[in-house]
Amino acid sequence: MAARKDILKERMSAKKIVVFGAGGHGKVVMDIATQCGYEVLGFIDDDPEAARLRSSFIVLGDRNWIRAANPSEVCCALGIGRNNLRMEIAQFVTGCGMELPTLVSPRAMVSASVDLGAGVVVMPGAVINAMARIGEGAIVNSGAVVEHDNRIGRYANISPNASLGGDVEVGEFAHVAIGATVLPSHRIGAGSILGAGSVATANIPDHVVAFGVPAKVQRPLLP
Ligand SMILES: CC(C)(COP(=O)(O)OP(=O)(O)OC[C@H]1O[C@@H](n2cnc3c(N)ncnc32)[C@H](O)[C@@H]1OP(=O)(O)O)[C@@H](O)C(=O)NCCC(=O)NCCS
Repeated sequence: MAARKDILKERMSAKKIVVFGAGGHGKVVMDIATQCGYEVLGFIDDDPEAARLRSSFIVLGDRNWIRAANPSEVCCALGIGRNNLRMEIAQFVTGCGMELPTLVSPRAMVSASVDLGAGVVVMPGAVINAMARIGEGAIVNSGAVVEHDNRIGRYANISPNASLGGDVEVGEFAHVAIGATVLPSHRIGAGSILGAGSVATANIPDHVVAFGVPAKVQRPLLP
């Protein structure tokens, strides 16, 4: 009888999660995980000592903590803003057999027809409309608007209050910075940055920094 009770209790208890990255982005991800009903055990950080000094939150250790954990008991959220590093951490975590949950803030509005990849985080106030596809490990940050039929590439980063018109494509690892706008049916190239407050009125090629209104390519970026 006691054993059955324990099994039921275990089934009803919250799923455990750790957040990889104890910086500013990680703190927001931690809040969302909590709001999604996870029990947050703490942060993992590649420099746990520095993270402990700057944070009042629990820092469990570095990635060796993930190696030693039981992946059937805990999953790992991506709390890293930098796109390339986020992918490297995602590959490490899944290589350890651990799940990368998709986290959607209960205060975001996401159409039921949206396809969200593993490890995607959608922040409070974001709106993602019909038939949009959000690739693995991408971030849709606070208040961002991702309109219908958008295709957001893997590990792309859509910053707070960015607005993407319908049928926009954002390449993998691209960064649409705070408050930037992309007019409908345009493309932001893979690995490119569209600067804060900019308006893309034409396609932006791969691996460049572009900004301004209208946005102009300013310089190349190494892939
Ligand atoms: C696009 C960006 C990367 C450019 O950074 P940078 O190459 O370091 O540029 P600098 O800060 O050296 O500025 C160079 C010049 O460009 C101008 N500039 C920079 N960003 C600009 C922008 N977004 N719009 C218009 N002008 C801009 C600067 O005013 C400066 O002009 P000056 O030479 O006349 O003084 C940066 O503006 C940006 O948008 N970063 C992303 C911020 C963000 O969204 N972070 C995520 C938070 S969650």
